[in-house]
Amino acid sequence: MEASSPTAAVVLAAGQGKRLHSDVPKVLHLAAGRPLLIHVLFSLGPLPLSDRVVVTAPHVEIPSVVKAAGFDDVRFAVQDPARGTGDAVRVAMEELVPGSRDVLVVCGDTPGLKADTLTELVAIHKDRGAEATLLTAMLDPPSGEGRIVRGVDGDVDRIVEERDTTEAELNIREINAGVYVFREETLRRLLGALETDNAQAEFYLTDVIGLIRSEGGLVVAISADAQEIAGVNSRSELARVSRSLREEACERWMDAGVTIIDPQSTFIDVTVELARDVVLLPFTFLEGNTKIAQGARIGPQTRIVDSEIAAGATVSFSVVAGSSVGPEASVGPFASLRPGSKLGRSVHVGSFVEIKATTMGDGSKAGHLAYLGDAEIGRDVNIGAGTITCNWDGQQKNPTLIEDDVYIGSDTMLVAPVQIRARAATGAGAVVKDEVPEDALAVGVPARIISGKGDKMRRGASDSPAKPRQ
Ligand code: UD1
Ligand code: CA
Repeated sequence: MEASSPTAAVVLAAGQGKRLHSDVPKVLHLAAGRPLLIHVLFSLGPLPLSDRVVVTAPHVEIPSVVKAAGFDDVRFAVQDPARGTGDAVRVAMEELVPGSRDVLVVCGDTPGLKADTLTELVAIHKDRGAEATLLTAMLDPPSGEGRIVRGVDGDVDRIVEERDTTEAELNIREINAGVYVFREETLRRLLGALETDNAQAEFYLTDVIGLIRSEGGLVVAISADAQEIAGVNSRSELARVSRSLREEACERWMDAGVTIIDPQSTFIDVTVELARDVVLLPFTFLEGNTKIAQGARIGPQTRIVDSEIAAGATVSFSVVAGSSVGPEASVGPFASLRPGSKLGRSVHVGSFVEIKATTMGDGSKAGHLAYLGDAEIGRDVNIGAGTITCNWDGQQKNPTLIEDDVYIGSDTMLVAPVQIRARAATGAGAVVKDEVPEDALAVGVPARIISGKGDKMRRGASDSPAKPRQ
């Protein structure tokens, strides 16, 4: 048996996406947290492909987005100007040394495509020895898409774009998905024969199908799920496609052992990872590179972006961005963790506490109304209500160091840079501008230091002699 020919993939992504009215190229718009084009490249991932070529417009950031997503061996062909899908494929073919491949063509604006569907399409194409094999779907109403015109024998005759249809053709419900496999020689030859005598004055890839048929070549059509092949041409289609990707994500995670109280109001990006027995309460938004470990309980009303939540932690009514929350820690209600924050085991961050670029060691607590920025906080520290790290002096951000077992009294202003050593304490309303030594108590405005009067939580080993009381 003849070894089957290799398959190259071409992804069309040079269209301007006029109907989105956007400064961002269409294929870089996000659906469920991932650019449309990257969804398509993921769907190509499992296929054994000899080449992957993405056709882009000039001067777009598409190549860097593709590289950042880890697709290092994807090549790019620049189409300038965009003269239609047929022209786009012609530009892509210039990137490939002529050979006898099969060429899989997909559009960069169809993020729901499944690898299994593409694998089957390629397999059927090779099996049948077709000149072209394409995906079609039944749509009601079929608005916007190219229509599949079948002959009296029921075979595909040609594809007609909506703007070029007769009234009868306009009512055809079978549409072209924009996903095809072609025999390479046939494709190259017929791309050269395309004309622009149509409503959009463009080179239509779809005309290649009609040309194959008029030469008597075999075209095979496979029917696909309409939702899966839906292309994004407008903001409203973007919203619809995003919703269906999110629904799939919820289903997938529930199958993997995650409890989702209300999938309709739970928004999980496709980039997120969840462990067993995670519980997601309504109006939870999990975005970007976020990982949630076993048994964590998230929500309601919580947004977590690019963060890690460890096992058994709870986060409610809060925003966590670029941060990590330790095992059994609790965050919220109404807390904000800004990028660079790291909470240890069993840390508690409560209502109206904002934390930025700050680490809190195991067992430390900031229960209410505090701002902790650029601070390194040790273990078992108690941060009183109203505590503020005054980290910005008008010129630069300054660090605060708070060592283990410190007790910060309510309404303390920590004027950074400042260090509070182990077991020290501050009195309510203290304005602390200088280092507070171990076991000392700092009181007043600005705070006076009274050595040996700290250790409010009785954790110290030291029996240092009491200094005169104030
Ligand atoms: C195309 C098909 C239509 C099909 C639909 C499915 C043609 C002529 N029509 O229409 O039959 O039903 O897809 O979604 O092929 N692109 C380029 N360069 C260009 C033009 C487009 O790279 O010059 C890219 C776009 O970025 C997009 C894809 O090709 O990713 C499809 O283009 P689009 O304008 O969305 O075509 P449709 O009108 O949807
Ligand atoms: Ca489209």
